[in-house]
Formats: sequence, structure tokens, C-alpha cells
Amino acid sequence: TAVTTIAVIPGDGIGPEVIEPALDVLDALGLGTRTDILDHVNADTYLRTGEALTGSDLDRIRSSEAALLGAVGDPRLGDTSYVRGVLTTLRLELDLYVNYRPARLWHDRLSPLRDPARRAIDCVIVRENTEGLYSGIGGGARTGTPEEIAVDVDLSTRHGVSRVLEFAFSAARRSVCLVDKANAVRNGGQLWQRCWGEAVARHPHIATSHLYVDTAALRLATDPTGFDVIVTNNSYGDILSDLTAALAGGLGVAASANLNPVTGRALFEPVHGSAPDIAGSGTANPFGAILSVALLAEHLGRNEEADAVRRAVAAAVAAGRVTPDLGGPLGTKEVGAAVLAELRRP
Ligand code: NAD
Ligand code: IPM
Ligand code: MN
Repeated sequence: TAVTTIAVIPGDGIGPEVIEPALDVLDALGLGTRTDILDHVNADTYLRTGEALTGSDLDRIRSSEAALLGAVGDPRLGDTSYVRGVLTTLRLELDLYVNYRPARLWHDRLSPLRDPARRAIDCVIVRENTEGLYSGIGGGARTGTPEEIAVDVDLSTRHGVSRVLEFAFSAARRSVCLVDKANAVRNGGQLWQRCWGEAVARHPHIATSHLYVDTAALRLATDPTGFDVIVTNNSYGDILSDLTAALAGGLGVAASANLNPVTGRALFEPVHGSAPDIAGSGTANPFGAILSVALLAEHLGRNEEADAVRRAVAAAVAAGRVTPDLGGPLGTKEVGAAVLAELRRP
């Protein structure tokens, strides 16, 4: 059988720290993958060369079956050019139009909600990943003067909106909820609403609902139990997926898949960033990266292995084999070892 290559971008801060145990898990799954490690894609290289991601980096990623990324970001750098130069460039260049961000409560102990009946979050944010305020279209005028203005275009195209809505319906187990701000953001709001009406009509057997983003935040924070798939634009998806991560135990457990279901291109990454405040302390939670490997296994058609990873994580959580962000005593490496031990349990 042909070898499947996974391009790996460990990145900065806790990125390389969480990718190490994640690669151990990938290895333990025995999927027959080989890795192409791009460990020069980081803030040091950018500071030296001024280039975040070269054409040859992109070629290596393009010629891989999928990519796995730790986190990028460095306190020495302003975020816009470097972080955007890696993350947004990858999402746009590879046209990864879906950002799939599941949030599931691995153990009751991890929930911040006091009422047990309102705790059991198990939903997915389907975030549009190539348009909206991340379009890169815009500019400034009268820079540096008191009259300075700046414009970032909130782009919505019929093509971009209808394809991500279609994916949301394909991913639904129970229901799809559209989240927008169509009451205030008129043009894009109406385009999303029209595409939504068409998508709903194409899927008459899937339950649907619609919420404005402010109400959605309120509902998620007070009772997330009713949500299944939430589909929304790039910025709202960014913000709501940190909220759902918090409800599932924190950023340390949140995984994501950047997908193009048409071309099959895919990039997997924990939702968190490079966490400069804890980088180097050996305490970063590797679950987000490890659960991103579960999503990667699923992408390769290996659902059983993906479930095995999730069961191993759930078992490690249940046994209290977790990092300090989850109230545990262990470091990144020990948690990685605990997950591997669970995976190898016959
Ligand atoms: P962050 O996600 O790095 O950290 C937010 C908070 O969560 C911090 O207190 C951090 O310690 C904690 N945290 C995050 N991941 C954790 C983990 N695995 N285990 C335990 N605690 C964890 O967000 P930030 O501080 O706003 O951003 C830091 C840098 O990362 C910035 O440069 C930002 O642009 C970048 N960033 C990158 C990505 C990415 O690569 N996908 C995502 C978000 C932010
Ligand atoms: C994420 C991150 C990125 C985003 C930033 C670092 C550009 O927050 O992946 O959620 O906003 O998409
Ligand atoms: Mn984010």
C-alpha cells in the first residue's frame, strides 16, 4: 500500500510540546503514515528571513495527505503578519473552507456549569474558514493622522456560504443551528439567510434553528445541551469555539480540523495558540493536539482508531491523569504516556 505522508508544523511556544505526544499517539495507531516535519516554520525563522511560509513549504504541505499543526505565535512579534502569514495563508491557499471544531465534555468534573442537567455539551462548531473578516481585503487611509481610518472587508460569497452550509448539514447528527447577526449586518446577513433557506429546503429531515450570535453566546454559556452542529462565519466561529472549548473543560482539550471536503485537503490543529505564559514549563495540556490526531485518523477513514484515541483520553481524564489546567498533577509528557498506556491496554 502507498505510504501516507502527514506534514507536521510544530510551530512555537507549546506547539512543539503538544505535538510530541500527539505524534507518539499517531505512531501508536499504526496507520502506516510517515511524517514530513517542517520544524523551521516558526517565529525565529520569520524574525530572520521575514518569511512566514515559503513556496517550498507550501509545496511540501500540498504533496502530503494531510497536515498537523501545533500552534504559532510569538510575543516578540505583532500577530497580524506572522500568525496570519502561517495560519490564514494555509487556510486560504489550501482553500480549507470548513473549520470543524467539536466540543464534548470528557468528564463531568471538567464542566464550569453548576447544574448537572445543563452540563453535557457535545456539539460541533462549523466555522467558515476562508472569508468574512479574514478576507484580507481592506486598507487604510490618512495613516498616522487624527483622521486615520481602517477598513477590513467582511466578505461573503454565495459560493463560500453555500458550501459551508452544505458541509454543516452533512455533519449533523441531530440538528443544525445557523448563527449570524443578520439583524445588524445587512448585506452579508441577507446572503447567509438566502443560502440558509435553500440549504434547509435541501435537507427537510434535519431539524434546524437560527440564533443571533449574542443570544447564541448566552445560550451556550447557560445551557449548551441542546446544540448539535452550529454553523457560522469566520469571526463568530473563532469566538464561539473558544466558548465551547471552555464549556468542555478549557482550551487545552479543544481539537479542530480545517477541511476542504471537495479536494480532500486537510489540516488538523488544537484550537489553542502557543501559550507563551506556560511555554517551557512542561505543563501544556496535550489533549487538544492528541484529539486532533483522532480527527486526522477519521479523515484517513480510520474511525475505529479515532474512537480508540477518544476512549484513551476519556480514561486518562477519568483517572485524573491530567495537566494543571484540568486540576491535575501531571506534565505534558506524563499525560502523553498515560494516553499511550490506555491505547495499548488490550
Ligand atoms: P492561547 O491559546 O495561546 O492561550 C490562551 C490561554 O489558554 C493561556 O492562558 C494559555 O496558557 C492557556 N492554554 C492554551 N493552550 C493550553 C494548553 N494546551 N494547556 C494548558 N493551557 C493552555 O491564546 P493567546 O495567549 O491569545 O495567544 C498566544 C499566541 O498564540 C498569539 O501569538 C496568538 O496569535 C497565537 N494563536 C495561535 C493559534 C494557532 O496557532 N492556531 C490559536 C490562537 C492563538
Ligand atoms: C484560531 C486562532 C486564529 C484565528 C488566529 C491566531 C489568527 O485564534 O485558530 O482560532 O482567529 O483563526
Ligand atoms: Mn481562535
